Amino acid sequence: MLVEKKFLPSGFLNIPTPKGIDLVKAIVDLKKEKKAIILAHYYQEAVIQDIADFVGDSLALAQWATKTDADVIVLCGVDFMGETAKILSPEKRVFVPDLNAGCSLANSCPADAFEEFIRQYPDHVVISYVNTTTAVKVLTDVVVTSTNARQIVESFPPETKIIFGPDENLGNYINSLTGRNMVLWKGACHVHERFSLEKILELKKEYPDALLLAHPECKSVILKIADFVGSTSALLSYATKSANNEFIVATESGILHEMKEKNPDKIFIPAPPNDSTCACNECNFMKLNTLEKVYNCLKYEMPELFISEEIREKAIKPIRRMLEISEKLGL
Ligand code: 13P
Ligand code: SF4
Repeated sequence: MLVEKKFLPSGFLNIPTPKGIDLVKAIVDLKKEKKAIILAHYYQEAVIQDIADFVGDSLALAQWATKTDADVIVLCGVDFMGETAKILSPEKRVFVPDLNAGCSLANSCPADAFEEFIRQYPDHVVISYVNTTTAVKVLTDVVVTSTNARQIVESFPPETKIIFGPDENLGNYINSLTGRNMVLWKGACHVHERFSLEKILELKKEYPDALLLAHPECKSVILKIADFVGSTSALLSYATKSANNEFIVATESGILHEMKEKNPDKIFIPAPPNDSTCACNECNFMKLNTLEKVYNCLKYEMPELFISEEIREKAIKPIRRMLEISEKLGL
């Protein structure tokens, strides 16, 4: 096993928090006591985003993991985000409150099958989205996130042969922007795949002035009608800078919290999924982390991530390459 999720086969600590406790205050106190920092992705529950020291997208979380001088990182996101933090900061203890928080996109690309796939294209550079397991990163030349994917692909000469994995929608989108013909692994995120074109078109009729913002993991039918396509942080910054007041948002609905915080006078409407009566589209993995689990994880110092030095040294190369290119490009 490349990554050990020590001591907790159940993935999280299932202990009831003390009755009547002020969880937010207790977490703040524990953070101070343990010299810990809480990093949260935009898809986390609002209460978790509110107690975090830093909230950001995948790229920003990786960048933060290298910058902080805290002893402990509680990564409120999914497992690959915690693994990236541990790979970048081996001297720090890294916890994910619920290590059952996986990622359907990462799971759609098993390392052994990906290795076999790569073998069919021996003269290709391997570019992988950060939403991958550590084992896939070991097979990768350079990692990208949705914030820097286009620029990193374009940093290679046009004649470079490239394999891009695991998100096929993102890969197709980057191919369409850059005119490249990257070979794509056919993976997908279950959240972004299930936005309903019909329901979005109905919403556009209801809110004719609303702009459609979409994450590039969405299917091309959604991306084609979007007014702006970008990573979570790009969508947030576009909505904040825009003179427009209404937005339909086609990404995981957790991002609406920060959008509303930054733009209290603007209206944000979550784009609905096609298979539910619920109006918004949530990542069930991201939502496994709760305030109670954050408390338990700080209090009892588990579940913790461990990665062997041999694997870490291999996995860090493509991540470091991404961070270096991003820094050069000012991303
Ligand atoms: P970002 O790169 O925008 O943070 O996206 C991460 C993710 O998991 C998208 O589903
Ligand atoms: Fe993975 Fe999709 Fe959840 Fe992002 S939203 S963590 S890609 S399953």
